[in-house]
Amino acid sequence: MNLSSHRLSRLPLACSLALAVLLAACQEASTTNTVDGQQPVTTLSPAAAVGKLMFSDTALSASGQQSCATCHDASHGFTANDGLPVPMGGVHMNLQGLRNTPTIMYASYTPPFTLAGLPDGPGQPAQPAGTPTGGFFRDGRANTLAEQAVMPFLGEFEMANANAAEVVTRLQGRPYLAQFTAVYGAGILNDPDATLAAMGRAIAAFETEDPVFHPFSSKYDSFTRGQAQLSTQELNGMRLFNDPNKGNCAACHVSTPVGGVPALFTDHTYDNVGVPRNWAIAFNNDGTTLPDYITANGTNLGAPNHRYYDLGLCGPTRSDLAGDPTQCGRFKVPTLRNIALKQHYFHNGVFNNLGDVVNWYVTRDLNPTHWYTTSDGQTPDKQYNELPQRYDGNVNREEVPYNVEGGQHLNAAEMKDLIVYLCTLTDGYDAKNPSAYPYPDQCKAALR
Ligand code: HEC
Ligand code: HEC
Repeated sequence: MNLSSHRLSRLPLACSLALAVLLAACQEASTTNTVDGQQPVTTLSPAAAVGKLMFSDTALSASGQQSCATCHDASHGFTANDGLPVPMGGVHMNLQGLRNTPTIMYASYTPPFTLAGLPDGPGQPAQPAGTPTGGFFRDGRANTLAEQAVMPFLGEFEMANANAAEVVTRLQGRPYLAQFTAVYGAGILNDPDATLAAMGRAIAAFETEDPVFHPFSSKYDSFTRGQAQLSTQELNGMRLFNDPNKGNCAACHVSTPVGGVPALFTDHTYDNVGVPRNWAIAFNNDGTTLPDYITANGTNLGAPNHRYYDLGLCGPTRSDLAGDPTQCGRFKVPTLRNIALKQHYFHNGVFNNLGDVVNWYVTRDLNPTHWYTTSDGQTPDKQYNELPQRYDGNVNREEVPYNVEGGQHLNAAEMKDLIVYLCTLTDGYDAKNPSAYPYPDQCKAALR
């Protein structure tokens, strides 16, 4: 489906009311100094302060070994630091997760999920009715950060508490309990569901208020503020990123400010880009016994007859859009801020470096037998093997960089330039001390 017409971002002026209220609340609660890229000074609201403590408290998990921060590690842009495509979790930390961990940086700018269309808002370009937009998780199934934050506590293959009461029992043994009840009242502890919901709100307040989640301190931000120069290679990469006939990345990963918010490198919509199946996820192999938390949704879908597919918007981790086959295989467009700090990429973590990501974008349909292989990593498999055949038509084939008309849109040197530009989206750039900038090996490898 070609969605490029509405993707080409209009510069928005109007503010959606709900978001304006949210941002105002956020500004009230914290004093921040992010404009010049300096380390921000912050005063968190009491709710956010206790949310911060819960965020990294492993004692709130059944294993005693996992907190939000275990999977969302600050030193990796709040993504995984375990070297795995999808995380391990559960009571005994031996259950494999379903999806790769996205960053939660800049997530507080995400609007709730809607199909109704959206006007321009802070960080959100307008979208027409019918375009899935917003929401949390790679399939948008949680509407707010607060709703999202309660779910890992109960996830069988994550923090694995049996129910809300178990979470509350753990909370009652924690040193910050008084801080929690000072905000929400001691009476709340009698209602486990209300307590867990309040924990979610506290964590969401932390994610919204603390500038550590949205410092806008990348080299690219310094450049847009006129405080740093980009190298010739970085500038060329930026041009390729934005050029509709070359990378065309900005068509989905919006690279311009929207509604007064610096570029977020996502339009918060969903697309089916035909990512290869990741055989390193055990239950993607048909010989593996499926754990009880996997829905065998492939049995009625026909060739190639895998038992399980992760189909994003149409399930199986959300069910409300299952009746609309056009949504199958669509996943949220993730932000590309701090992308060089991630260890694996895409919803199933199939690639572990930006070189493969960019090469795949550019040669997906020119060299499909290289990318789509069976579990031996060599034998050519069905093209778009993460999808049953009947949904192949959903894959975006028209837009640059996927379309094959005009041949390969970027050559090897241009791909390196594009990567070096992506590396400028890493936060923590100090124009006065550029040598201290985090510069992962994959960024160094792309220099020329
Ligand atoms: C076991 C690892 C793990 C733990 C523990 C974990 N997460 Fe996540 N997180 C993930 C994965 C994987 C996803 C994507 C899941 C999906 O899309 O279905 C995710 C998604 C998210 C998102 C959505 C981001 C977006 O852009 O849509 C947020 C926000 C988030 N997690 C916050 C938290 C918070 C808060 C906690 C603690 C209460 C937490 N996570 C605990 C792995 C984890
Ligand atoms: C048509 C929309 C579209 C275009 C154009 C596009 N992307 Fe994406 N991008 C997506 C979607 C959707 C995903 C998530 C897909 C998934 O996980 O299945 C994604 C994921 C990514 C990821 C992985 C992010 C993560 O957190 O795992 C990277 C890196 C990325 N894109 C870079 C690029 C670059 C570089 C370009 C230009 C060469 C580009 N994208 C062009 C829609 C697009």
